Amino acid sequence: MSDSAVRITLHPAFRKGPVDRRLFGSFVEHLGRAVYTGIYEPDHPTADPHGFRRDVADLTRELGVSMVRYPGGNFVSNYVWEDGVGPVEDRKPFLDLAWRTVEPNLVGTDEFLQWAEREGIEPMMAVNLGTRGVAAAAALVEYCNGEAGTRWADLRIANGREKPYGVRLWCLGNEMDGPWQIGHKDAHEYGKLAAEAGKAMKLVDPSISLVVCGSSSMQMPTFGEWERTVLSYTYDLVDHVSMHAYYEEVDGDRGSFLASGTAMDRFVERVVASADAVGAQRRSDKKITISFDEWNVWYLETRFPGEQNLPIQRDAPRIIEDVYSGLDAVVVGDLLVTLLNHADRVPVACLAQLVNVIAPIMTEPGGEAWRQPTFHPFATTARLARGEALDLRVATPSYTTAKHGEVPVVTAAGTVGDDGAAALFLTNRSSEPVEVAVDHLGSALAVTEGWRMLADHGAAVEGPEHAARVAEKCWGAVDVATAVRRDGATTTVRLEPESWTALAGTLTPA
Ligand code: AHR
Repeated sequence: MSDSAVRITLHPAFRKGPVDRRLFGSFVEHLGRAVYTGIYEPDHPTADPHGFRRDVADLTRELGVSMVRYPGGNFVSNYVWEDGVGPVEDRKPFLDLAWRTVEPNLVGTDEFLQWAEREGIEPMMAVNLGTRGVAAAAALVEYCNGEAGTRWADLRIANGREKPYGVRLWCLGNEMDGPWQIGHKDAHEYGKLAAEAGKAMKLVDPSISLVVCGSSSMQMPTFGEWERTVLSYTYDLVDHVSMHAYYEEVDGDRGSFLASGTAMDRFVERVVASADAVGAQRRSDKKITISFDEWNVWYLETRFPGEQNLPIQRDAPRIIEDVYSGLDAVVVGDLLVTLLNHADRVPVACLAQLVNVIAPIMTEPGGEAWRQPTFHPFATTARLARGEALDLRVATPSYTTAKHGEVPVVTAAGTVGDDGAAALFLTNRSSEPVEVAVDHLGSALAVTEGWRMLADHGAAVEGPEHAARVAEKCWGAVDVATAVRRDGATTTVRLEPESWTALAGTLTPA
């Protein structure tokens, strides 16, 4: 591609809005080895006194995860939370129908919330609106947040936890539009139940925020109408509507896969439009925002046999342990660009999931924990994106994809903090290098640090050695002195083919 075929215009006063730290959330579900031999493994050499793996907690911290959603996912829709509290020796295993796995109930609400508290992570809890309803949801809020003197708060105290946990963010079920969901409902059934459960939960603790289930993906046949109906029952009660999206390369269609960020972009815009249409009809000044509480690359169509084809298993089976490539990591970086560009309407997002299950962190039982390639763009964005998201203008050529039509070759997001600390995140989806000229109007941009992920062509294979090889080949520091040139109010950067780049420095008045 010719020199400076791409121009980005940046003005420090033009901003989207604050980057909520909850944008860097993740997700731990009772699924496969996310909990058992993931975050929790009492016999592991690094286990803390509570049985949680220190090596995984350290990597979680390095990943920059601010918030973790729990306990599901599909799992929550048949979960009896009361079975997972109290003396561990009295807890009974149960058959989780979502993943056809025997859940030993060794980790439950208290163990998870105390782990999150010790690690400085905000918890995001989900209630079961599949097989259960209003009473169990309100009881769980009371168990977590209630003061002494009522039944469920006193049970928590009897179980050894005096102080309320103060869980702020609650999901009203999970993917209730999906026929695979245990207790699946149509939009009217779910909307009414969510409104009643949410009402009761807020009567227990008015300070909580609620997430109502949106569609499980943009491909759902009920997409759009589902959001409209569900929000017509819950608009005044809830704060957020959920979005879930997973992306994968299908039939070698690399161009479409690299453009997943554009698909996510359109999905966000459509959900925002659906929510705002309900608000407009109600003549409401309230704006519903988005909890993008499941997003990632997941080879769902091409590698996953489907829940119904899983045999009944026990002892933390290996389920959906996708191994990621440099290409997958470039796409993850680009999805983060999309999320930052919607900072005004997406305050909450969860990379699904945290460990072992479609995860940036992998473990071996009794053995090591390691970073997948997707770890790097997430950790780097979480570390460098500070303050507010800039409203950039990107003039870029486009290319045509089979799945998403015309898409931009280069995508970009930027952030700036009160102290002038600034970052730019850029994806080049083309197989050629691209020169990008950044015009920073009325300001001086000094780039002092850079990182880049390159897409690869190799088949993904398992294990820490693979992750290390990918990291060596694809992930590395940008030599700022040679890759970035400054000429007055324009800074030029060369992007490698099929790459994701983060640049950091300062943005100060010129
Ligand atoms: O993250 C894995 C699964 O994907 C979750 O349980 C479900 O909500 C989604 O379909």
